[in-house]
Amino acid sequence: MTTYAVLSEGLEKRFGEVRALRGLDLAVPEGSVCGVLGPNGAGKTTAVRVLTTLLVPDAGSARVAGCDLVRDPAGVRRGIGVTGQYASVDGELTGAQNLRLFAKLLRAPRTRADELLERFALTEAADRPARTYSGGMRRRLDLAASLLVPPKVLFLDEPTTGLDPHSRNGIWDAVRELASDGTTVLLTTQYLEEADQLADDIVLIDEGRAAHRGTPSELKAMIGSYAEVVVADPAGLRAAASVLDQLTGAEPALDTERRAVGAVSNDATLTLPRLVRELDAAGVLIVDATLRPPTLDQVFLRLTDNRKELAV
Ligand SMILES: Nc1ncnc2c1ncn2[C@@H]1O[C@H](COP(=O)(O)OP(=O)(O)O)[C@@H](O)[C@H]1O
Ligand SMILES: [Mg+2]
Repeated sequence: MTTYAVLSEGLEKRFGEVRALRGLDLAVPEGSVCGVLGPNGAGKTTAVRVLTTLLVPDAGSARVAGCDLVRDPAGVRRGIGVTGQYASVDGELTGAQNLRLFAKLLRAPRTRADELLERFALTEAADRPARTYSGGMRRRLDLAASLLVPPKVLFLDEPTTGLDPHSRNGIWDAVRELASDGTTVLLTTQYLEEADQLADDIVLIDEGRAAHRGTPSELKAMIGSYAEVVVADPAGLRAAASVLDQLTGAEPALDTERRAVGAVSNDATLTLPRLVRELDAAGVLIVDATLRPPTLDQVFLRLTDNRKELAV
């Protein structure tokens, strides 16, 4: 039987006229990483704030870290860690002072603070005021603060938004390490690649509701693959496009003067040899032809375009 670290049903939250959450159902198995993906304004931060007891839901229910969100918010708070877009770090204090202060407030051993500085590669910068830290270092310090008392469930609200690739990789490694230690992680992100890299399951949220869910590969399988043809001569592009159109039943995108890309719905009869044969028969000279799975970005665009048709 699966035990869920986060299980919500019908969560609703309104801000005046704005319905930020409209019946959000989430089920995050213990020990997994759940990526909550959605465009700006989808309700990601609201979901995190509700699930971490910072906001009281207007309707719905949830159990988080084994406790009822509404009846036992103190129990929920004991079981979770949160880092958000609103860092709690004090810029005037050094990294070490920040962590030691939190450790004291949370009654965590001081040695834990030093251990975490080390783990997040902040030992060297430990005695500098946090305001002198780069974005990535601040984010790591914030993450370290949320781990002083090892949480059962860690919530990360857009942990890498605005970070450079190097800092982003540092956060990714930290999340992977936590997950391998058995911590359940719920992270929100606007980046599909991030969800693809880190999450066991992805929930696509749109207008305060879960619109789609699945593993990254399940989501990719929902929309089939892509056929891509690169022609030797731009003059052959039209003919290549018409072959793709016939094979896929949809007009391909011509994204450079030599390349046509068509979406293939789950049609097992379109194989690469067939694609190449048909192009050859039409007299198109090609330099490349591929059939490949979609990227999560393409999944996201397709699923949000065809929202009604594909909604689960
Ligand atoms: N405190 C608030 N007061 C009024 N509206 C809010 C507040 N917080 C969020 N909203 C609105 O709720 C919706 C969802 O916001 P949010 O949860 O921040 O989305 P996301 O994190 O996915 O970008 C948006 O329309 C936003 O403007
Ligand atoms: Mg947000």
